[in-house]
Amino acid sequence: MLFLEIKNLKVSYKTVNGKSTVLNDFELSIDKGDSVSIVGESGSGKTTLGAAITRLLAPSAEESGEILLDGKDILKLTEDEMTFVRGTEIFMIFQNPLNSLNPVKTVEFQLMEAAKIKAERDHTDATEDQLRDVIIHALTSVRLPDPEQILRRYPHELSGGQVQRVVISMALILRPKLLIADEPTTALDVTIQAQVINLLKELNKEYGMSIIFITHDLSLAYVISNKIIVMYAGTIMEFNASDTIVKNPEHPYTVALLKSVPTDYKTNSKLYYIKGSPPSFFNLPKGCRFSPRCDKVFGKCREMEPALISGGGIYKVRCWLYE
Ligand SMILES: Nc1ncnc2c1ncn2[C@@H]1O[C@H](COP(=O)(O)OP(=O)(O)OP(=O)(O)O)[C@@H](O)[C@H]1O
Ligand SMILES: [Mg+2]
Repeated sequence: MLFLEIKNLKVSYKTVNGKSTVLNDFELSIDKGDSVSIVGESGSGKTTLGAAITRLLAPSAEESGEILLDGKDILKLTEDEMTFVRGTEIFMIFQNPLNSLNPVKTVEFQLMEAAKIKAERDHTDATEDQLRDVIIHALTSVRLPDPEQILRRYPHELSGGQVQRVVISMALILRPKLLIADEPTTALDVTIQAQVINLLKELNKEYGMSIIFITHDLSLAYVISNKIIVMYAGTIMEFNASDTIVKNPEHPYTVALLKSVPTDYKTNSKLYYIKGSPPSFFNLPKGCRFSPRCDKVFGKCREMEPALISGGGIYKVRCWLYE
C-alpha cells in the first residue's frame, strides 16, 4: 500500500472578490522513504498544498478529494484525530518558521513537549534529564552553537535562520513519517542552507522519513528529491523522476524553468526569464493555463485545457504536445 495517496484534491478560497480555486485536480503518491519536491513560481499553490495535507488551511478555504495516509482519509478525521496525526505522522515546517512555534513559550518548553509526545508515542519511560539530552542532541545536530542558551529564549529572540533550525530540530525529535518542508531554506545564507539541505537528506536516507519539499528552486529540488512535481497556477504540469525532469524536461514550462536557473556567471551575461506573469485565479486563460507564456503554443492550447496524461512509469505531463 502506498504511504500517502492524494486523489483529485481541490482547494478553493472564498474571498471578497468571489471564490478562487487555487489547487485543482491534484494527485500525488508517495512511498515510504520517498522525497518529492513541489516546484513552481510564487502563487502556484505550493503552500496551499502543504496546508491542505496537514489540514491547516485558512478558515475561508474549502477542500475536497481524498488524502489517504496509510489508507485512511485524513479529510475525514476529527480535529482531535488530526491533532495526533500532525504531531506524530506528519509534521510541517512552514515557509515562515515562526508560524511553527508558539510565541509565548520558550524554545525549551516547546522542544520538551515534542520530546514528551515522541516518548509517549513510543511507550518509553524517559526521565526529564533523558528528554533534555534528546533535545540538546537535536539542537546540536542542526549545528546551533550554544544550545543551552538557545533553549532559554523565546522565538522572537532568535534570528530567522536560528528559528528555522529550531523547527527542524523539532522534526528531528518527533521523527514523523512525513515531513513537509515549505521553502525551509529561503531565509538562510548559502552555507547554512547547504547544512540544512544535507540534514533533511539525512532524515530521508537514514531514518526513511518521507519528505515533501516545497521550493521555487529546481536545482535545490534536484539535490534533495528523487521525484519532482512541476506546478503552474494550481495544477500539475509535469511529474517525473528528478534525474529525468532535469535532463529531459518535456513540458515547455519545465524547460523554461530550467533555463531560468543561472549557470553562467559571466559579467554582463543576461539572465533568462519567462516572459509575462502567472495568471490570476479569478481570470484564468482559456485552454492551457500556461499558453499565454508558452513558446510552443499552438491553436488547440488556447481552446481546451489538456488533461494530465500518464506516459509510462511515474511520468505524467499536461500538455497538448504530448497527446
Ligand atoms: N487565505 C487565503 N485566502 C485567499 N486566497 C489565498 C489564501 N492563501 C493563499 N491564497 C491564494 O492562493 C494562491 C496560492 O497561494 P500559495 O500561498 O499556496 O502559493 P505558493 O506557491 O506557496 O507561493 P509562494 O511561492 O509565494 O509561497 C495565491 O493566488 C494566493 O493569493
Ligand atoms: Mg508558499
